[in-house]
Formats: sequence, C-alpha cells, structure tokens
Amino acid sequence: MKAAIMGYGTIGSGVAKVLETNKDVLAERIGEPLELKYILDLRDFPGDPNEKLFVKDYKEIVKDKDVKIVVETMGGVEPAFTFVKAMLEAGKSVTTSNKALVADKGAELMQVAEKNNVNFVFEAAVGGGIPIIRTLTACLTGDVIEEMSAICNGTTNYMLTNMEQFGSDYAEILAEAQSLGYAEKDPTADVEGHDSCRKIAILTSLVSGKNVDFNDIPTEGISKISSTDFKYAKAMGRSIKLIAHSIKVGDTYACRVAPFLVKPDSMLYHVSGVMNAVSVRGNMLGESMYYGAGAGALPTASAVVGDMVFLARNPGKYIKLGWSDEKLELANPTKEKHRFFVRTSALQSNIENEFEEVEYSTLDLDNEVGFITAEMSEAEFAERSAALGGIISVIRMY
Ligand code: HSE
Repeated sequence: MKAAIMGYGTIGSGVAKVLETNKDVLAERIGEPLELKYILDLRDFPGDPNEKLFVKDYKEIVKDKDVKIVVETMGGVEPAFTFVKAMLEAGKSVTTSNKALVADKGAELMQVAEKNNVNFVFEAAVGGGIPIIRTLTACLTGDVIEEMSAICNGTTNYMLTNMEQFGSDYAEILAEAQSLGYAEKDPTADVEGHDSCRKIAILTSLVSGKNVDFNDIPTEGISKISSTDFKYAKAMGRSIKLIAHSIKVGDTYACRVAPFLVKPDSMLYHVSGVMNAVSVRGNMLGESMYYGAGAGALPTASAVVGDMVFLARNPGKYIKLGWSDEKLELANPTKEKHRFFVRTSALQSNIENEFEEVEYSTLDLDNEVGFITAEMSEAEFAERSAALGGIISVIRMY
C-alpha cells in the first residue's frame, strides 16, 4: 500500500515518524506494508531520512496510480483544496489534519470522494489525538446529540493554564506554545478562537448532518484575558477556559466560542495544558467525555495514521459520514442565556439600577468593581451593559 504526504511541517514529519516507528504493527493491521512513496513540499530537507521521497509538483502524485492514500498536512484552504480534490478525483483516499480546509470545504470534498468511490477523512482535524470524529460518526450515531462542550485548542489551553498557575506573561507563553509545535502558523487563529470555531463547526455539522458555516458562530478568543481576570477567577474558585459550545435548540443548534468561568465540579475545569476534552450529551447515552492531547506532532500524527489504516482497510468503498451540503441555519445567538461576570468602573448604585439582582466579586482594586449578573439573554445583557457603561471586561459563567 503506497502513500504520500503533502506538507512536511510539524504534523507531516510526525506522520512519517509514526509510519517508520510503528511500521511492523501497521503492516500486520493492514495485511501489507504501508509504504511512503512521496513527500510534497516546496522546501528542501537536506539530510532528512526521507530526502529521496521529496517532490515539488503535486501532479507527480496525482498521476502515480500506485499511490492509494494521501495525507494532507499543509494547512490553510488553498492550495490544499485544489490538491486534495485532484487526489480524490484520481481515485486516491485522503486524510487531513487541516481543520480550516475541513470546516470550509468538508461537505464538498465528501461529495467528490463519494463520486469517486474513495474516502475523505479527518480524525486529526478536531481534538488532535482524541478520536472524537469517529466517535461521533460511528459509535454515537444511535443518539441525538443534544450538547457538546469542547476545550479544543491546545495552544490557548496551554497558555491559560500557565497564566493561571505561574502568572506567565501572555507573549512569552504564546512563543513557548509555538516552539512546542502547538500553535498554527499564524497563531491569531488560536488566540482569537478561530481554530476552536472551525472545530465546533465541524462537530456540529457531523451531528446535525448539515453544513454549518463557521462564519455564523459568534467567536471570542483569549487575547483580552488578563492576570486581573485570573485573580477574580481565583477569588470565585473558578478557572477560565476557552470553550467551544454547541447545543440543540429545536431542529438546529446554537453555537458559540468564548472564554468561560468554569467551576471545579465541571470536568472541563480539570483539563489543563495542551490537553483537550470534548464533553458530549446524547439523548440516550447521557454525558460522555473524550480527553487527550489536543495538539503536537505525534498525538496529531497518531490520529492521521489511524485514518490511514482505516483507508487501507476500506479500498474502493465510500463510507458515508452523514454531512450534506445543505446549510444549517444556526439558532439566534442573541437569545442564548448566561450569567455574566462583569468588571466595570461604574458606580455600585448604577450597577444595581441597571442589573437589579447582582452578586459582587471584588478584589479591592481602585476604580473598578466586579459583579455577576442574574441569568439573562445575550441581547438583554448587551442592552443593560451598554446603558451601564464603563465596562472593562465581560466573561460568561459556565
Ligand atoms: N493549533 C491547534 C491547537 C493545533 O493549538 O489546538 C491542533 O489543531
């Protein structure tokens, strides 16, 4: 069984390493050796053990009929989309770790795969090494999924944990996450929540069977979270986590990505460092939670290679994952209800006028006060907080 890798960065080189390290057990599991024939990358890698496999033109892989499995670990939508589509049309199955590609073009690429009787799979695109995609598209297909709450970005969870536990500086800890191979090429996608947004869009598409446009999901990242926010969190006995949330509302879902103040009795409170977790509530199953390394070369490569084994075991047979290109109209996010933690420079009397019932959480800081609102809709909160003014920061309570 011949394979190719497109993109020899952190994940692509990790895939080559897993294929080499575990080659005997992979051959046993597939029934024949899984051999890497090409690596596509524009860069040169002199002295690399796979030096002889490098090509610079994807068409060399397209036209080689021996190659049945292609790994896409380039990242970004283009040229990954053009290359992946060409591979599927040439009768090759593809696995990718590229959530930007899957979130934007997943439904379309799945149709191309179906037409060509091959498969397009992406276990590594969400949750790194956690097998959440196959869990949702196979094991939990007996359930209606009512809610998913995910810590699904390793970079930001690593940063938040270090800021909380060691008071680490935001820029320094981001640089560390980058050097560990956790962050995206442009880490804005991590810290501004775009990566988590694409991941919850993919998970919601898979459980709804329709296509979620990630642009419809209200998304906030962690770039505004400060050490003072962590001091308030500590005083409240909570932690701050970037959560991607999806909940069934009638025939659709309401989705949001934002930092939340999480209590210790939630399992997500205990998910630290680069670890990710996805908590899933099914209408029959109840709660279940999936936990593991969410980023990094080898955990992510492990998921890619697991997909390669799946593809090798299912040649010439399209396996339906249930993700159509019909758009899912998400529920109106302004109707979602939360309690909100607010820091403001407004006077206490004005706070009570605008919000009536509040619970104070103060740190004895000059010129500001912290309070928690009663539960209210996003729309109502937006109106009341605009009327109050002096808002320094807002974090939702989980
Ligand atoms: N940048 C991503 C993260 C990589 O930090 O989770 C894994 O998708």
